[in-house]
Amino acid sequence: MDHDVKDMGLADEGRLRIEWAERDMPVLRKIRERFDRDKPLAGVKTGSCLHVTTETANLMITLKAGGAEVILCASNPLSTQDDVAAALVKHYEIPVFAIKGEDNESYYSHINAVLDAAPDVTMDDGADLISTLHSEREEQAKKVWAGAEETTTGVIRLEAMAEAGVLLFPVIAVNNAMTKHLFDNRFGTGQSTLDGILRATNVLLAGRKVSVFGYGMCGRGVASRARGMGALVNVVETDPLRALEAVMEGFSVSGTMQAAQTSDLFITVTGDIHVLRREHFEAMKDGAILANSGHFNVEIDIPVLQEMATGSRRVRENVEEFLMPDGRKIYLLAEGRLVNLAAAEGHPASVMDMSFANQALVVEYVKEAHSNLENCVYDVPESLDREIARLKLQSMGIEIDALTAEQQEYLCSWEMGT
Ligand code: ADE
Repeated sequence: MDHDVKDMGLADEGRLRIEWAERDMPVLRKIRERFDRDKPLAGVKTGSCLHVTTETANLMITLKAGGAEVILCASNPLSTQDDVAAALVKHYEIPVFAIKGEDNESYYSHINAVLDAAPDVTMDDGADLISTLHSEREEQAKKVWAGAEETTTGVIRLEAMAEAGVLLFPVIAVNNAMTKHLFDNRFGTGQSTLDGILRATNVLLAGRKVSVFGYGMCGRGVASRARGMGALVNVVETDPLRALEAVMEGFSVSGTMQAAQTSDLFITVTGDIHVLRREHFEAMKDGAILANSGHFNVEIDIPVLQEMATGSRRVRENVEEFLMPDGRKIYLLAEGRLVNLAAAEGHPASVMDMSFANQALVVEYVKEAHSNLENCVYDVPESLDREIARLKLQSMGIEIDALTAEQQEYLCSWEMGT
């Protein structure tokens, strides 16, 4: 079996960690038990470009249990857990092409290795697989049944492709499922981003001035978790509604320049480019720490930071110090890549359980439905979303009420008033 991983000697350790994550993925486990019995994915070849983590491993194992042929590469050069990659190859016979720290050339050669397998269904986190298919393998793209996209940034790219009329197969926006973005983006990013920053720096958050850039679901999670640990949290947001919401949640809200002058720790989660740039680096205090938890490493203008600095050195794992001409030092975490996956382990299994339950059910759905879908971006069918919420509650031992017949009727009526 063809593969490219760092060290097969790490496989046993990886298997233990995959099993540890599985304990916290009860919804995916239920789906896997059914898949194992009924083999609904027999005859499907899935090609995935996802963060290679213990949670992703459990998704791959679930798809394989359903009868799918599975192949995996990384969706970020720094997020691969090398022990997990090795375990998938050695213990689960799943071909993996991913090495933590791979350069751009290997990153794309790994994407091409997955595409060489000619998947029927693609699974992306950030749309690099689909984007490569469309720019370099148009004829192959026309034969793909459908894709699934995990993250906000990927959905934005795909919607731009659909809008431009260039999307060659239907894609399901897993990110848009309620059981995905309301939990993974908020509670997952909130916790794992702080986890990455703390593992990298071991700084005390209590009393520290933290600016969070972007107040979407991810920004909300990061801001609320940072406040929970005693940080003085400021939000920077360009959308007036979101900014207002942050104000009424009790955060201070400011523009970037004011944040640059006053903050100790900067966390970007906007999904946009050059949020922190030259004029902000010029205004920052000595010792400022910069972290990004948005999908791509473009939110902090790193080339400009490198150009402005008179020197740089690695002072801890995942911490690079940039010396400014006036003697100030600015610290960049994890090369400006997703700090939660590069410096920690990504979102905990319990939230990825729902995200990946969506992925698994979406593959099953598109196997049957793809020929009736247009080449555009679809939401996950609501029935799947609700089923995942129901299973998650059930796994937590939580029972909820059903509406009475009278209540149901009331909600469909208009006659009754004061
Ligand atoms: N994205 C964020 N956290 C993740 C994780 N633990 N596994 C896969 N993708 C992720």
